Amino acid sequence: MAYIPEDKIEEIKDQLDIVNIISEYVDLKQSGNNYIGLCPFHNEKTPSFTVSSQKGIFHCFGCGEGGDTISFIMKKENLSYPEAIQFLADKLGIFIETGKVDKELYEHRKKLFAINNEAKLFFFHNLLTNQEPKKYIAERGLKKELINKFMIGYATDNFQDLLNYMVKKGYKIEDLLELGLVKKSRKNNSLYDAYRNRLIFPIIDSRKNIIGFGGRTLSNDRAKYINSPESLVYHKSNNVYGVMNLRNASKENKVILVEGYMDVISLSNYGIDYSVASLGTSLTIEQAKLISRYTKNVYICYDGDEAGINAAERALEIFRNINVSPNIVKIPDGLDPDDYLKKYGRDSFNQLLENSLNPILYKYNNLIDEYDLNDIDQKVVFLKKLTELLAEIESKLVRDEYINRFSDDLSIDKDNLQYEIDNYLNTKVKDIRTKKEVINNKSNDGYKKLLLESLRYIIFNPNISKDIIEVSNFLNEKTEFWTKALNIIEKIDYSSEESIKNQINNLNLEKNTKLIFDAVFKVKDYNYYLNEDNAKNYIKSMEKNKLIIERDILKAQFILLEDYDKLTDELKNVYNKLAMDIFKLDIDIKKMT
Ligand code: CTP
Ligand code: MN
Repeated sequence: MAYIPEDKIEEIKDQLDIVNIISEYVDLKQSGNNYIGLCPFHNEKTPSFTVSSQKGIFHCFGCGEGGDTISFIMKKENLSYPEAIQFLADKLGIFIETGKVDKELYEHRKKLFAINNEAKLFFFHNLLTNQEPKKYIAERGLKKELINKFMIGYATDNFQDLLNYMVKKGYKIEDLLELGLVKKSRKNNSLYDAYRNRLIFPIIDSRKNIIGFGGRTLSNDRAKYINSPESLVYHKSNNVYGVMNLRNASKENKVILVEGYMDVISLSNYGIDYSVASLGTSLTIEQAKLISRYTKNVYICYDGDEAGINAAERALEIFRNINVSPNIVKIPDGLDPDDYLKKYGRDSFNQLLENSLNPILYKYNNLIDEYDLNDIDQKVVFLKKLTELLAEIESKLVRDEYINRFSDDLSIDKDNLQYEIDNYLNTKVKDIRTKKEVINNKSNDGYKKLLLESLRYIIFNPNISKDIIEVSNFLNEKTEFWTKALNIIEKIDYSSEESIKNQINNLNLEKNTKLIFDAVFKVKDYNYYLNEDNAKNYIKSMEKNKLIIERDILKAQFILLEDYDKLTDELKNVYNKLAMDIFKLDIDIKKMT
């Protein structure tokens, strides 16, 4: 996030109305000079959350939470300080200038949003004035209110309805093309509406901008859905469908994650309005982060078909990466939430939510289903997988809980299971250690290059050999060869008639040593090493190289650990120390440039 000038922050603060902003999250009632409501930061039945409009601050007498508008947004939207400022600036329509290019982009974005908004109104109007989409909505059993709530629209079957409308409004064709609302025929370059005879679902972001559209065919078109392409304003992987539900999700402290537009709408139809859709089956980490900003109590409720089940497992891992432990809802018979609700109703669906499983139980059940425990070979594999599953549980307390439960359930010996898990964890630790060694060895190739170059300076330019030795000394730890080479170089007699190369050749060196010195002498132009500027630059670069190499090795180890960071306390300490060391080195390296 870019630096925001102090006067901009002041300008934003001046225009903020704390009551206005907080009202979007809390029902506030006036009480004397202040406003009061139910605290959004803890559970309460009687209001102790107070907002002072004059002072621009809030305070909860129940839980002690308090601050100004910015800290409220930081907490509620889970944003950093500059992000919260940007969030509020967008709300107020204040542009934070960070450069000319930014300003142009910002204006262009604003225009694209305006176009999308106009298109949304156009589609919405179409829906109200056409029978076919209304009939479809009724046939799917959707209440009329949903049309307003989700701003559902309709694109007619004509080829240039939207195009003509937008051009008349003065919008440019290139912008319509950029947004994917209009397409150009490859055959004759003619322009046509991208969405035809489709129900339109506007996709909205958390700042209430219309960022894109999904369109469902009403005529069994081969493409069931058409979605907006990636553009300056639409990034599929950063957004979910149904953002308007996230506020409710925050209030209810739970969110249901589904696959499709129709699932979100159908759930709302049954009064469950805290769901969002990842649109398609692959949840991204950005989407997971977005959702968990509102609540960490996530129910993954993907379709009950194989694709949905696989996607749920991927989503599980994504949430795990951001330390959210979601519940997995299993919908039977390959149905999706919409189908299920229609077939069995709301109570039955709620029952599914209640029966949802946490990741451990979900995976355990899958293992039980997958393997036949009466078959000894299968049971062996099963036990191995079970060990891995349990070993992955970070907290020992929780792990013990499951060890008890599963060993009871399976009638296996608890101590043996514990033994297997300990064994597994120990080998993992060893595994990491050997991998670390491999990384260290690999980086030796990089050292070798530096080693050769330093030796060349030392041999060809004795005037600076002391400095070079000094900045190259760190190689000593990394290659056995450094000290040895320096000992050999010491034997060189610069006053001798004999060439340096011959002197070294005559030393009767062992094979490896000889090979390295051969490489040292393989240079086109010795004069290069006599040049003072080259030498100076080399010394400088070595100082930096030293740190960069240090850092890269640590980084490689760090990446290695990231897979396993939830493993043991010991590894966690290693992880934290590495992170700190890398951070420090990064700063030092930056300072050098
Ligand atoms: N999807 C898509 N393009 C397709 C099919 C699906 O973009 N050709 C995305 C849509 O976001 C869709 C989601 O994947 O909402 C789930 O697909 P699917 O289960 O096939 O659609 P439903 O949402 O169940 O729609 P409907 O009930 O109308 O069939
Ligand atoms: Mn469906």
